[in-house]
Amino acid sequence: MSILIIGGTGMLGGELARVFEDQQPIVWGSDQLDITDGEEVFRRVTSVTPELLINAAAYNDVDGAERSGSRANLVNGYGVGHLARAVSAIGGTMVHFSTDYVFRGDKREGYSEDDIPDPQSAYAKSKFLGEQELQKRIPSHYLIRLSRLFGVKGTGPDVKESFVDKMIRLSESHHVLQAVKEEVSSPTYAHDLAYRVREMLDWGIPFGTYHVTNSGSCTWYEFAQQVLALIDWGGTLEPVPSDKFPRDAERPSYSILLNTKLPPVRDWREALKDYLITQGFI
Ligand SMILES: NC(=O)c1ccc[n+]([C@@H]2O[C@H](COP(=O)([O-])OP(=O)(O)OC[C@H]3O[C@@H](n4cnc5c(N)ncnc54)[C@H](OP(=O)(O)O)[C@@H]3O)[C@@H](O)[C@H]2O)c1
Repeated sequence: MSILIIGGTGMLGGELARVFEDQQPIVWGSDQLDITDGEEVFRRVTSVTPELLINAAAYNDVDGAERSGSRANLVNGYGVGHLARAVSAIGGTMVHFSTDYVFRGDKREGYSEDDIPDPQSAYAKSKFLGEQELQKRIPSHYLIRLSRLFGVKGTGPDVKESFVDKMIRLSESHHVLQAVKEEVSSPTYAHDLAYRVREMLDWGIPFGTYHVTNSGSCTWYEFAQQVLALIDWGGTLEPVPSDKFPRDAERPSYSILLNTKLPPVRDWREALKDYLITQGFI
């Protein structure tokens, strides 16, 4: 199958490129294609004619989007629409990723795939716009929501550092750290997600919306606690309320993504340990 990966210089895009390596995918970062340029997207994608396009590109600065919401909409919203229009024109399939942040965040038990999004922040609204663009323009799609991605950092200029890497970096220069004791969600190991995407395609599951995270959930504090315990950090981690770190964008308080359609992915603690071992942190 001919595969084109967009956002290949990002964390998830890089992992997808590795997991699909034997299929020799074409992998583009924003240097190769700016997805906000609709005409160029159509020209380049239709000239490559991939049977499968996987879009891992995104504007991921959640707080920055409050100030530059139009940029977030161009990349996360209309950019997805441009890709979907091109893939639809050549009769291909599109895989796209969204976030737990599209939900309001007041459902303690979590959100299933069919729950109605109610995005609160500019970033969340831009990602929901992307979901709508995808659904409107290409029926042959997989929309996969995830949360709290961690894994090997991408190679692109503006890629996001994961919470795990940030905690490890801070632990090297601090004896006391603080983490928010609120906001419950499920971490997602980029390798496990990329591998699950491959399985979903191999299994030939129906098109539609799916939730793929590792099993289990945690607050940011519990997430940090696990990272720091695994690397045997000798410092003190303090749980703090979310208002201790004022941030521009509102975050959901409870945004566990319930997976009601696929076999569960392994527990996040096991995946985290695996990541730390493969990266030589433990
Ligand atoms: N990170 C998380 O915690 C998280 C949580 C929930 C959902 N997600 C979703 O998961 C997916 C993957 O995220 P990630 O963390 O792997 O992203 P990332 O590491 O920040 O990488 C973002 C990628 O998007 C590309 N990109 C940005 N603007 C672009 C443009 N205008 N045209 C083309 N490419 C552009 C970047 O390319 P260059 O670097 O080459 O510029 C980079 O390859 C995204 O859909 C994201 O919204 C992530």
